[in-house]
Amino acid sequence: MTMTKLKERSLLGLKDLSRQEIESILDRAAYWEAQQEKVVPVLSTSFVANMFFENSTRTRFSFEMAEKRLGAQVLNFSAAASSVEKGESIYDTVKTLESMGIDAGVIRLKPSGVLEELAGKLTVPLINAGDGNNEHPTQALLDLFTMKRKFGTLQGLTVSIIGDISHSRVARSDLWALKKFGAEVKFCAPRSMQAPELEPYAQYVSMEEAMKSDVVMMLRVQLERHETGMLKSAEEYRAQYGLTVERAAKLSKHTLIMHPAPVNRNVEIDDAVVECEQSAIFTQMSNGVPVRMAVMERALK
Ligand code: CP
Repeated sequence: MTMTKLKERSLLGLKDLSRQEIESILDRAAYWEAQQEKVVPVLSTSFVANMFFENSTRTRFSFEMAEKRLGAQVLNFSAAASSVEKGESIYDTVKTLESMGIDAGVIRLKPSGVLEELAGKLTVPLINAGDGNNEHPTQALLDLFTMKRKFGTLQGLTVSIIGDISHSRVARSDLWALKKFGAEVKFCAPRSMQAPELEPYAQYVSMEEAMKSDVVMMLRVQLERHETGMLKSAEEYRAQYGLTVERAAKLSKHTLIMHPAPVNRNVEIDDAVVECEQSAIFTQMSNGVPVRMAVMERALK
C-alpha cells in the first residue's frame, strides 16, 4: 500500500482531517445506522486487531461490535494479558501483530505523541482509539453525529465543554472538528484543569455562561491523571463545575446534555441528570457503533 493510501485509510486525529472527509464518514455512519441487517459481511476477509494499552469499555466494545457487524475477523489484545507485562514495547507488540497478517489496527495508548511515529513505521492502517490527552477522533465523530442528529446542522451551534480540559483528548478532537463546521466552542474549567495552549481556539467562560449553549458537554474528572492537590474535593468540584439537578433544570429545553463517559456520578454530573430527557449520553454510545463501522470500512474497503 502506498504511503498516501495508508494515510487516507488511517485515522490518527481530526486536527488534520478535512471537513469533507469528516462529512463523508458521518454520511456513511448514517447509512450504517439505517441498515436493518445486523451483520453485513463486507469485511469478512479482513483481520483487525484491537490493541488497548489503556483501559476502555465503550471504545473497545463498540469497535468490536462495529467490526463484527461488518463481518471482520477480530483479534483482541489487552496489555494486561500480553507480553507487555514482560517488558515488550508498544512498537514490538504492534509489529508482531502486523507480521502475523492483520489488515488494520485499532490502538489506544497512554502516552501522547508516539502514535504518529508508530504509524509511520507500519504498513497497515492505524485507527486512534485515544492517545494520552492528544486526540480521540472516533469519540468526536460520534459526538458530531449525535449533535447533527439533534440540531440538523453543526454550523452556528454553541458547544460548551466543561471540566478537565487539560487531560481531555475528547475536548481536543471535538474542538478541532467542531471549528471546521463553524460551531463555536467555549471551555469552562477551574484554572488547574485549563489548557493554556488551546486558548487561541476557545474562550474560557463562567459556568453561568457555559450553561447558555446549545450543547453542554461535561467531561470526566480524570482522577487517575491528576497530581495530588489539583482537586480539593469532589463536593467542591460538583458545587462549582458540576451539572447539578438545579443547574440542569435551568437549561433551555433545547439544550443537549452530553458526556463521553465513563461518568463520575455526582461529581461532574448528578445521578438524576445522566439519564434525564435532555441527556444524550447513552445515545452517544449507540451512535459510536455506526460511526466506527464507517471508520473501519474506510480503513479496509
Ligand atoms: N468514552 C470513552 O472513550 O470511553 P472508554 O474509555 O470506556 O472507551
